Amino acid sequence: MSEPADDPKTVDEAARLLRAGRLCAFPTETVYGLGADATDADAVLSIYETKGRPRFNPLIIHCADLAMAERLAEFSPLARQVAALWPASLTLVLPAWPGNGLADVATAGLDSVAIRIPDHKLALQLIAAVGRPLAAPSANPSGRLSPTTAQQVRNGFTGKVPVLDGGPCRAGVESTILRVEGERLVQLRAGAVAREEIERRLGLAVGVAEKSAAVAAPGMLASHYAPNALMRLNTEPRPGEAYLAFGATGSFDGPTRNLSPSGDLHEAARNLFSMLHELDGEGAGIIAVAPIPDAGLGEAINDRLQRAAAPRS
Ligand code: TXA
Ligand code: MG
Repeated sequence: MSEPADDPKTVDEAARLLRAGRLCAFPTETVYGLGADATDADAVLSIYETKGRPRFNPLIIHCADLAMAERLAEFSPLARQVAALWPASLTLVLPAWPGNGLADVATAGLDSVAIRIPDHKLALQLIAAVGRPLAAPSANPSGRLSPTTAQQVRNGFTGKVPVLDGGPCRAGVESTILRVEGERLVQLRAGAVAREEIERRLGLAVGVAEKSAAVAAPGMLASHYAPNALMRLNTEPRPGEAYLAFGATGSFDGPTRNLSPSGDLHEAARNLFSMLHELDGEGAGIIAVAPIPDAGLGEAINDRLQRAAAPRS
């Protein structure tokens, strides 16, 4: 992949690339994914190469419908109850069926598999047109900000990855990941669907995984989703810094974005990565970030901000 890529103009063109074992970035409601045929080990390996992922970490497998998902993993009655929320920004970690056809590298050789049915028309049409599940991490070089527009994908990979353009992503942060543990639901990653909302819709409690118990994977690394700039959280900006504000703010002279002037956490989640991209693009050396309430979607937003601010190795 050294030549600039021609972007597919239609779902069918994108599907042809993927069926031929090529990568293609595609929109989902959360963030853009770097897609590959999840049954093709070489195609999945080129995801790791292209992202520069340091290790083979398990990928989320995107399905077009429940029938496709059921060929990959075993659904307990509780898993089925959660899956009734699909299509959604919700990923379920389930026991993998042996011989389910997935490339070992896609699941990092684990006996579990993370699956979701995205809530995005183009994504669903694309998976259906390929006719196979798609492995897709966020379409950004490893450790960097997740892309919420096609242009951010092109910038991240200097135009070398073809992108199916579906406009900006609605949710703007990655899916919430749940693991079904017997009769218990455990959240492994806070994401685009707030834990409280899942609890409300299912009428069930959702636990939170202990940090140390989480699978070692990129989304779980302390430093991740990092902009070029250094970050200072829960604070007011100093002269010379850039400011990522939330809610009503005083005046500030430097580069400023407001995640949501009205203090709406959905709007803030949608704007998070885009605004960090923008402030980064303006050459900010340090981005000061206003406090964000930790309830609802604030849990996912604060998680991503903490990883973006963590010391880099
Ligand atoms: O919204 C999203 O989820 C986006 C879009 C493209 O769908 N995808 C995404 O994928 O965020 P990625 O590769 O950046 O995140 C995959 C996460 C990893 O952090 C890993 O912890 C978790 O999924 N994961 C995958 N398989 C797992 C497994 N078997 N057990 C536990 N966690 C798993
Ligand atoms: Mg990612």
